Amino acid sequence: MSRSRTAMLAALTLVAGGTGLALTAVPAGASAAAAPCTVDYQVQNQWNTGFTAAVTVTNHGAAKSAWTLKWSYAGDQKVTSGWNARITQSGTAVTAANESYNGTLATGSAATFGFQGTYSGTNAVPAAFTLDGAVCDVDGGGTTDPGGGTTDPGGGTTDPGGGSTDPGGRAANPYEGAKVYVNPEWSAKAAAEPGGSRVAGQPTAVWLDRIAAIGGVDGGMGLRDHLDEALKQKGSGELVVQLVIYDLPGRDCAALASNGELGPADLGRYETEYIDPIAAILADPEYAGLRIATVIEPDSLPNLVTNAGGTDTTTDACVTMKANGNYEKGVGYALSKLGAVPNVYNYIDAAHHGWLGWDSNLGPSVQEFRAAATSNGASVRDVAGFIVNTANYSPTTEPYLKVTDSVNGQTVRQSKWVDWNQYVDEQSYAQALRGQLVAAGFDSGIGMLIDTSRNGWGGSARPAGAGPLTSVDAYVDGGRVDRRIHAGNWCNQSGAGLGERPTAAPAAGIDAYVWVKPPGESDGSSSAVSNDEGKGFDRMCDPTYGGNARNGNSPSGALADAPLAGHWFSAQFRQLMQNAYPPLP
Ligand code: GLC
Repeated sequence: MSRSRTAMLAALTLVAGGTGLALTAVPAGASAAAAPCTVDYQVQNQWNTGFTAAVTVTNHGAAKSAWTLKWSYAGDQKVTSGWNARITQSGTAVTAANESYNGTLATGSAATFGFQGTYSGTNAVPAAFTLDGAVCDVDGGGTTDPGGGTTDPGGGTTDPGGGSTDPGGRAANPYEGAKVYVNPEWSAKAAAEPGGSRVAGQPTAVWLDRIAAIGGVDGGMGLRDHLDEALKQKGSGELVVQLVIYDLPGRDCAALASNGELGPADLGRYETEYIDPIAAILADPEYAGLRIATVIEPDSLPNLVTNAGGTDTTTDACVTMKANGNYEKGVGYALSKLGAVPNVYNYIDAAHHGWLGWDSNLGPSVQEFRAAATSNGASVRDVAGFIVNTANYSPTTEPYLKVTDSVNGQTVRQSKWVDWNQYVDEQSYAQALRGQLVAAGFDSGIGMLIDTSRNGWGGSARPAGAGPLTSVDAYVDGGRVDRRIHAGNWCNQSGAGLGERPTAAPAAGIDAYVWVKPPGESDGSSSAVSNDEGKGFDRMCDPTYGGNARNGNSPSGALADAPLAGHWFSAQFRQLMQNAYPPLP
């Protein structure tokens, strides 16, 4: 599994604002004649201290090649991050300017952008907006309440989808009130390690990482075996089975460790020999009582966004997959066939904050997710949600560090570690991404998953509090619990620990913390190993490697003596237990 990010794009993102913005005075009593613009400002998701909003501005005047929308808040709302516009705030005055890719606004056309913010008291919708200085009409009523009221991110049950089931009979959050399937094969390996019984009862995902995995590899359990066992574990309650759909043509185009069995052009085989048989098994009425959560093709769509052209992280393999469209078509096919099974919940992989967390990556990613989810028979109705941090090591939360912190007047965003990212952890990333996805047309009830299997960062190297206020770098490096050398490192990370145990509905908009990457399974071999799985050797798994553009040319931080991706790596499993956070008993 490869994890990559784009330093180049990051650097381009940074100069959104910084200039003092004049407070916009909105002329009172603007004429009743047709306004040159209409604004629809919708609060989408709101909890006690924060909210996400989507804004659509329609241009009724002459065509524009760039635009700026301004408004002022009556309350103490503060925009903390945005997408599809460069948003700055000075006092109560907010300015949203187009991104490079959505500046064109023909007469009668609209642009939509979104943001996340904080507030206290009431979160009133702004009364007036100007587009390039002209006063706009304000559309609609402002606040929508998709979830039936205020949700509580501090714990407890949140239900952004409203109600408990949708008209198709699916649960708003399949994890709520349900057990999750424990894979007996993984559990046995975990239990065989010293102290492993402390975690062997945790649910982990089943990776269908090749066609043969459907029937069972080397006499191991196949898909039906897992589903039969899941029915036993279910008993009379509800149970979620987690499957990773992972066999796209030309798999893992930006890395080598998890290259797969299908060549770049093998879309037909993917559809007929992989997805169709899986869909047929899942549709067996015998399994209708299970809730089946699928994780759709980790890394694939993010690779199309950041590594398929025009950056220093581009690879030929990703250029090929973008050009032939087979990642998009494969994902569309999987969504549509699996989504047709009423008890399947599809979650699309959305990388992690250290890969897509720059506005310049996230806006285009949302467009890419939407394109894939409306290709090859799929519709946004086939998508239950998205998953972040699959097989990665980014912390769920950074307890001693917020992206809005500053030191000596300098934002932590300009530290070397944060590198102008809009996020410092996965939960804030997932929540903001969710708002942006809904703004882009995904269902307002979508939920997010966070893979917390290996993002704990406990043990003796874990900071006990915030870093020193001597410089942004000292503050960030002293306080961050993510102890990686670079946030672009992804292979068998030295120092990592097990993260939060799988939990349903831990925070607003989050369906669950899940363990998708089974702890103890390697990310890739630390030297070349011949094999019949199609796997290559990626030097990001070699502890002596000095890195590449995707990790700021930093050392890989990988553990030595690792076996092939997916194979059991006992030393890593022991380290993950040792550094678990929360710690193991
Ligand atoms: C990697 C491997 C895959 C394995 C998975 C889970 O992505 O390539 O074979 O199933 O990790 O460990």
